[in-house]
Amino acid sequence: GLAACGSGGGIEGGDGGGDGGGDVDVSSADTVWRLAFNQTEEHPQYIAAVELGEALYEATDGRYGIEVYANELLGTQADVVNNVSEGSVEMMYIGGPVMESFNEDFIVFNLPYMFDSIEAQAGVFADTEVTGDLFSSIEESKGITVLAALFAGVRNVYNAERPIVEPEDLSGLKLRVQQSDSQVRMIEMMGGVASPMGQGEVYTALQSGVLDGAENNETVYNALNHDEVAEYYSYTRHLMIPDYLLMNTDILGEMSDEDREAFLGLIPDLVESANSGFMEFIDESIAASEEAGAQFNDDVNVEAFRERVAPLVEESINNPVRQDLYDAVQEYNEQFPAGS
Ligand code: GCU
Repeated sequence: GLAACGSGGGIEGGDGGGDGGGDVDVSSADTVWRLAFNQTEEHPQYIAAVELGEALYEATDGRYGIEVYANELLGTQADVVNNVSEGSVEMMYIGGPVMESFNEDFIVFNLPYMFDSIEAQAGVFADTEVTGDLFSSIEESKGITVLAALFAGVRNVYNAERPIVEPEDLSGLKLRVQQSDSQVRMIEMMGGVASPMGQGEVYTALQSGVLDGAENNETVYNALNHDEVAEYYSYTRHLMIPDYLLMNTDILGEMSDEDREAFLGLIPDLVESANSGFMEFIDESIAASEEAGAQFNDDVNVEAFRERVAPLVEESINNPVRQDLYDAVQEYNEQFPAGS
């Protein structure tokens, strides 16, 4: 995946996040965990993970440290999650849709137009009564614990051909989606042709014309240079999908109670750091993409897209677990409506 990532430099994953700014050499810890990340070292999630590793080192007197591997160096999310399951990689960030292959109930948070605001989403993810069972649901079957859910931007479509205003404008355009059936269905309903693949392959596929476009937030669009090869970015605002911080369940269980408590106590700081850095990262990304010649189009018939995908939402809320999750989201949506 690395060569295909097309991010034009800055590929230094594996140096243990030594540029995090602290004086701590996390790689000298008694136990060094690897955390896999598929984006660049400028990303707030990367910075937050490096901070976590340093804070963990200090809190455990050097018993634990975390090295963060950026740029998909350890593989695509769909591949690395198997290593986390086996314990050969201890931690990773993963996009919500990839989780659906382990427990389909994760789909609720990956559905189009699910969250009305960033605050509503943050409220849901901070509410352990809502998320607790889901986040521990694959501990026994897969050996994976979900430590946190993070804001990962709002996703919009982009392509090399034209600005998108109506669903009809997507007709015939082949767009990359994340690796899950729900994402394929969604793009088909929105009017395009879906092609699921790992993030690192997208640039080359766009460049060679295998893909006409993709859908993602502004940060990926810029950081992976998709703006160079797909200049029309249109605000369909169809998704606000979380990223999750995953950990191998046994490795977490092997820690002393004291160390585990210290570690888990640091996770809210990671969420806070990653989420607060994201908004600024979006603004910087938009400015850089505009500089590169990208055109941002906010004249989109969002209601038309919402109507198109409504059946996907309906057919996906098809068991009591999902209904409860869905209802909880609606409560937070009421509390934190759009534009609030
Ligand atoms: C976002 C998200 C990633 C995900 C990526 C993708 O960047 O934060 O977790 O992998 O989109 O589209 O694959």
